[in-house]
Amino acid sequence: MTAIADDDPATVPDEPRTAVPDVHHTAVSDVQNEERPAQRNPVDPGELDVPVIVLSHRAPVAFRDEGGRRRARRGAGGLVTALVGLAGQLHDTVWVCAASTEEDVAVAREHKGSAIYVTMTGEPKLVDPETTGALQIRLVEVDRAAHEDFYGVISNPMLWFVQHGLYDLAHSPNFGQRERDAFEHGYVSVNETFADAVSHEVEERGGRALVMLHDYHFYLVADLVRQRCPDVVLSHFVHIPWPGPDAWRILPPDMRERLLFGLLGNDVVAFHTERFARNFLLCAQELLGLSINLDKMTVQIGKRTVTARTYPISIDVDALVETAGSKAVRNRLDDLEQWLVAADARLIVRVDRTDPSKNIVRGFLAFEKLLDDHPELVGKIRFLAFLQPSRLDVPEYAEYIGQIGSVVARVNARYTRHGEAPIDLRLHEDFPTAVAAYAICDVVLVNSIADGMNLVAKEAVSVSRRDAVLALSENTGAHEELGAFAVTLYPFDIQQQADGLYEALTMPAIRRRELRQAAADIVRANDVGKWLAFQLADLTEITGLWS
Ligand code: G6P
Repeated sequence: MTAIADDDPATVPDEPRTAVPDVHHTAVSDVQNEERPAQRNPVDPGELDVPVIVLSHRAPVAFRDEGGRRRARRGAGGLVTALVGLAGQLHDTVWVCAASTEEDVAVAREHKGSAIYVTMTGEPKLVDPETTGALQIRLVEVDRAAHEDFYGVISNPMLWFVQHGLYDLAHSPNFGQRERDAFEHGYVSVNETFADAVSHEVEERGGRALVMLHDYHFYLVADLVRQRCPDVVLSHFVHIPWPGPDAWRILPPDMRERLLFGLLGNDVVAFHTERFARNFLLCAQELLGLSINLDKMTVQIGKRTVTARTYPISIDVDALVETAGSKAVRNRLDDLEQWLVAADARLIVRVDRTDPSKNIVRGFLAFEKLLDDHPELVGKIRFLAFLQPSRLDVPEYAEYIGQIGSVVARVNARYTRHGEAPIDLRLHEDFPTAVAAYAICDVVLVNSIADGMNLVAKEAVSVSRRDAVLALSENTGAHEELGAFAVTLYPFDIQQQADGLYEALTMPAIRRRELRQAAADIVRANDVGKWLAFQLADLTEITGLWS
């Protein structure tokens, strides 16, 4: 492959910090606020001798009827990886989640709603409770109509759009009776169903358990569980951005207040970044009139103190490195390399769900601008986009896929040379090829409008073999950790993103190496094990866990 202006001094940015910070100890707020309690020593989950109940909407396994045979597949996403790791280490744990497929419902019914046991190594399998390493899962069947309102009207369009700043406010939202009914009979009612299931698991363990709730689907659960099980210790991890009070004013007051009071049923509300945690406390102050302490990061509700905390989620670096070395990835890597060498081209990669919050259309517009501004790059750059279709039942998501298709067709029509289109759009999940692309690409593009964390950024720097430059939106949680070692992108500025891509593509090799190595060191130092261990440490310390 031909290096493009590898030693052009005009593109050399400021020197990076050479010391690799451990974000758990040098978070911005710890530096700014001497009074802030220091993070505790991590707690090894294996040493935690209390029952733990985990709740997430998506299950770690999904059952399907494949040609008359029941098959279990591992659930998608980083959360499943992180929580399977946690659950595997704890002594007594049950994972409560939704029965999402018809076969899940059949399994739940066969077990009369009580927990099932599954092994997660290789293809997941239903096993006996005594099986070593079995994960206890309680699949909760939810009324179909209530679930549609909960998931398809409130959680995904409404809460997701408020929290990612996606509403085009001159035109939407238009809340009416449909949305109010969906909130009442969907979101509230499904939260009650899951609060019942969680409370039941707590009661089965004598009323004392650590309950770890996850995501925007379940903001009302903590308060309901606390009312029924007053001795419980509760934490809720919010995996998506938490915006400031003005963004929440989009929702009618009764709705936003119920969501906030629901979350304040927890002992700890956890986020990926300091900014989100602070925004949460400001919401409690401005929207509920509660007293907050930004030094201690707490809010007072009656006699209870609720703490907001920050734990950046991460990846299992060793597992990813192993995947990167697997035969499947190596085969795809060879194919990709041949294709690039033949074209004598450089490679930009993005890996995302087709979610409007990922800013995919503007990413392609920025790529088009890059080619407009630098004709010498035409025919010398490939943009490989792995986009997994997502939530197509939500009209905005379906429309967004259409927009993606149009912009790609236009850019490819303008810039195809010798039969080679610059953008290769792959609308399906193909993790091995995505990992091969991480390994071999020159630039990884992450230009999200808003993102709680973004694990693609962490995955790419961990397995890159060509010192890929991370072109990273300032609005991702990952930017708090990795921004100093990336080319920062401003997600609404097409020209700046085009310039950022150019800077990344023309960065001198030595600089690329420094940045990539520093970013990879941070990811390794703060991997997913730490994410869990620090949460357990804080929960033990803050609540005393009944000691
Ligand atoms: C994103 C969020 C996760 C959330 C997931 C739900 O990935 O970052 O926190 O769990 O969406 O996705 P689903 O496909 O289950 O609606």
